[in-house]
Amino acid sequence: MDGESEKVGVLVISYGSRAAAVIDALSRSEDYKVCLYVADKQRNPFNVKHAEKHVVIPDLDVGKICEFVEANKNEIDFGICCPEKPIIEGVRDVVESKTGVAMICPTKRYAIEGSKASQRYLIEKCCAEANPEFKVFHRTEYASVSEVKGSVWGFLDEIGNEVAVKPDKPTAGKGVGVWGDHFTSREQLFDHFSSIFESDSDVLIEEKVEGEESSFQAFCDGKRISALPDTRDYKRAFDSDMGPNTGGMGSYKDNKDWLPFLDKSGREEEEKLVQKIFNELSGNGGNEGLRGVPFYVAFMHTGEGAKILEINSRPGDPEILNVLPVLKNDFVDVCFRMIEGNLSRIECEEKATVVTYAVPMDYGGYRRIYGGDKRVDLSGAYMLQKKYGDNLRIYPGSMELREDGATYALSSRTVCTVGIGENIEEAREISLAGVRNIDGALWNRGDIGASYYIERSIKRMEELRTKAKG
Ligand code: GLY
Repeated sequence: MDGESEKVGVLVISYGSRAAAVIDALSRSEDYKVCLYVADKQRNPFNVKHAEKHVVIPDLDVGKICEFVEANKNEIDFGICCPEKPIIEGVRDVVESKTGVAMICPTKRYAIEGSKASQRYLIEKCCAEANPEFKVFHRTEYASVSEVKGSVWGFLDEIGNEVAVKPDKPTAGKGVGVWGDHFTSREQLFDHFSSIFESDSDVLIEEKVEGEESSFQAFCDGKRISALPDTRDYKRAFDSDMGPNTGGMGSYKDNKDWLPFLDKSGREEEEKLVQKIFNELSGNGGNEGLRGVPFYVAFMHTGEGAKILEINSRPGDPEILNVLPVLKNDFVDVCFRMIEGNLSRIECEEKATVVTYAVPMDYGGYRRIYGGDKRVDLSGAYMLQKKYGDNLRIYPGSMELREDGATYALSSRTVCTVGIGENIEEAREISLAGVRNIDGALWNRGDIGASYYIERSIKRMEELRTKAKG
């Protein structure tokens, strides 16, 4: 860092490895000397090491975050919120109005992951072709369970039993039930439906769409969206997509903007759909409420085109970890541009990246219980950076630095390694080498970005297109 770099104070609201990657991208700025103020779920060792000031707020309560900002507002130029909970609870509205510190995340009103039903109505309005068949069962419309049951049966008669049942409210992937995975009869489906309905949430039933998934993310300054390269998330716990859904066991990105089973036109289709949603929400003059990553969209590419599975209003975890390490733009500059409303094109190195998460023994049902030692030692993985340099990144997530100086795994995804290479295979080898050099009782999927997995996706996509042509 040269002596002339401008000093910038940045608040980062942290949950998991995603925030460590954001902190790394900010810290690597060549144009600014960044002082970090981190509001963290726990004492993440990476964040503690990099922060000027670090505070633990286990429930990420908006009021407590705001107190931390208030106490340091003279040093903080702007803030970034990574996790969804504070965004949905209006952290931007509260921090901006009480402290004047500009926040990078959507306002409460535009945290569109707050309601899955509202998302479907929005998509219906501006790009209905991307909606699967769906129906929202509003609690206020039914006097009794038998009334709603009749209505559920009626909808299944229309679209068939192959459906997904989802709570309107966000539940971090939990609560979503899918025909064939979570139920195989209408009675079981309705049990699942009732458990959501009775827990005070409206319920969606959606046609189950078959295809290949991609994750689309874009930065936004309110006036325009600047798309990031596509990534593929691996949601299931075990290799070959077996086991329960998790927060995401890893992800890959190719050395171009689209994934191997898509082509440029598939990517353009995604961009056009997201642009339509942005146009609807931004109006003609733009809309500052959308600042941040308002559209992290899970697409399902089917034989009949792209369908939107869901929209989140924050960066994806792990998906943003595929992108931030290969940004060509200075990330602090990107942040200032998002706030000032003059965002330009985002450029990434033409590199592939693979993220592999190492998780606790009892995560994702790998072991039913684990009561052993939870210490995790990352020094072996850091040593490996001597060999791979910046092509290996190590981002601690759900782990904690304790008084004894050691680091411990908590309950969620512990740590991830990001491999960067000329192609996916090279990136994968580096990512896996990193994971293999972490000492601790952790496990990981071995097939993130594996060529056989990707070839299967390519074949499946070809079959779906052929079938659709008839
Ligand atoms: N990759 C899943 C999520 O960020 O929600």
